[in-house]
Amino acid sequence: MNSLVTADDIQKLADENVDNIRKFLKEAGDGASGFDLLEQFMELMMRYSAAIREVRTKFEVLNDEFSLRNSRNPIESITSRVKKPMSIFEKLRRMGEPVTLQKIEECLNDVAGIRVICPFIDDIYSVAEMLARQDDITVLRVKDYIRKPKPNGYRSYHMIVQVPVFFSDGKRPMRVEIQIRTVAMDFWASLEHQMKYKKDSADRPEISAELKSCAETIAATDARMLAIRKRIEALERRKKDGDDEAFSLK
Ligand code: GTP
Ligand code: MG
Repeated sequence: MNSLVTADDIQKLADENVDNIRKFLKEAGDGASGFDLLEQFMELMMRYSAAIREVRTKFEVLNDEFSLRNSRNPIESITSRVKKPMSIFEKLRRMGEPVTLQKIEECLNDVAGIRVICPFIDDIYSVAEMLARQDDITVLRVKDYIRKPKPNGYRSYHMIVQVPVFFSDGKRPMRVEIQIRTVAMDFWASLEHQMKYKKDSADRPEISAELKSCAETIAATDARMLAIRKRIEALERRKKDGDDEAFSLK
């Protein structure tokens, strides 16, 4: 995932895939000419990119505010991406849906994707809750793979949200997929994702078992790191209360 999706990125995406985009949309008989379809497709991708920026800014603002109050950042980093045209077309085909612009919006939740990396597990829930409380955000779906990890060991908090984005012709609700995880969960997911492509060998039971065991070690370490932070915070609070008491006795 790259860190920011700009208009130039969208243009580049379209340039690189121009023939395929025309071919796919035309085959689906969207009615318009190849040129119009390409323009409309790019416009739709631009809208997803705008939705990413809206949600990203929300996370950045929450991070700034939290860090002022608590002297630490609940967000370590944010990355985002607009799904590649070929992945969009392939996914619709897999779903047995025609490849049309309307179906992209209707059927796919992950054209716009944001990944938020947090230092600690409790930051994930704080950040998710703070976003969900905002009145222009509609949470369409939550999958908590932290409380209930996937059988392979994958952990992450997933949300599909809808956010209104204002364009020249009015307001449009756009869907964004958000994945929130700790640095440790991200480390596991990134390496597991890389290795998944070596399909035949990675599917062997002994390798899956080893990967799952790593996920569990990582989860246990995440829990211990959180416990350490909480102990330090409790000690600091006690020290501060002690200082306050000593001050009031003077
Ligand atoms: P798709 O898999 O995208 O069709 O969506 P879904 O509706 O099943 O969503 P889910 O929330 O389960 O997963 C969405 C995304 O989470 C995936 O596209 C991956 O980026 C990530 N993800 C889910 N499972 C795994 C996993 O086992 N390993 C890794 N590395 N990433 C995963
Ligand atoms: Mg996906």
